[in-house]
Amino acid sequence: MLRPADIHPGAGERRISMEPVNLTEKGKKLAHPAEFAPRIFADTADMDEIKPLKEGGIINGVTTNPTLLKRAGADSWDSADKIMKEIVKYMAPFPVSLELTELEPEKMVVQANKLAAFGDNVVVKVPTGGYRLMDRDPFTGLKMIRRLWEMNIKVNATLIFNTTQAFWAANAGAAYVSPFLGRLADYMYKHDHVERVPGNSLYFMEDHKAPDGGPERTANSAYVSTDGPRKNAGVRLINEIVAVFNNYRIKTEVLAASFRNSVQLMECLLAGADILTVPAPLLMGVADHPLTDEGMKAFFEDSKVFDR
Ligand code: G3P
Repeated sequence: MLRPADIHPGAGERRISMEPVNLTEKGKKLAHPAEFAPRIFADTADMDEIKPLKEGGIINGVTTNPTLLKRAGADSWDSADKIMKEIVKYMAPFPVSLELTELEPEKMVVQANKLAAFGDNVVVKVPTGGYRLMDRDPFTGLKMIRRLWEMNIKVNATLIFNTTQAFWAANAGAAYVSPFLGRLADYMYKHDHVERVPGNSLYFMEDHKAPDGGPERTANSAYVSTDGPRKNAGVRLINEIVAVFNNYRIKTEVLAASFRNSVQLMECLLAGADILTVPAPLLMGVADHPLTDEGMKAFFEDSKVFDR
């Protein structure tokens, strides 16, 4: 568990250097108390999930990926495009992330232009790495992030699992970085055997060779945040990225992604994440608590006496 004492002091300072989220119109007497609140996105491509959350004022953005589109019923590019366009239109002017699937730079640019043309609120999601495994230039993602920045297209650098990936994506020009804290936590939960692995290395020698078959990627010891219990590596990663961005006044927003439970939501808020993208079922429960249910029922029952 991340505790308030773990949080670096600069987190709040960094947030107030960003654009306010809850704007108070000029001349309004009561200023909004949470001007610099984090933004909350729904991590889904399902319009039935998006609508009640937008109407409830719970979300101000959406993130999608090919898996979420497939889950929402897309089974061809035509249907995927149709779903993406509908979300972009419905959510405008709030940002909607749509992911690149091409691997060749020129095709990636064509696809990015196509997605960006769906609406001014489109953010193009670019996988930061993973290209070496696909026999491509390892810097394909970072080069694309820089190229799209030069083209004035906002990028969400995705599939981030360590702080250095986040830094290099920001350095290339990404508007958002998306650390997948839930997947990292799942991985740690499944594979972390303290007795087998010295230090904080996420990768076991026997499990993960370099994609080109080379020696173990010892640099992967940086794949997780340092210090403390390793099971909350996901949330500590967010904390660490926020601290690094704070050090260098990097304005790239830290978009915490891949949530599994509401404790992780709370910890990311403590850590100073700029944006939380959350699966709809988790968001539907944010106003509830068993003791709230109990208290609400009692107050309602007791108020009936006034009707007499
Ligand atoms: O936004 C990233 C997210 O969709 C990945 O989540 O649940 O597949 O780890 P998950």
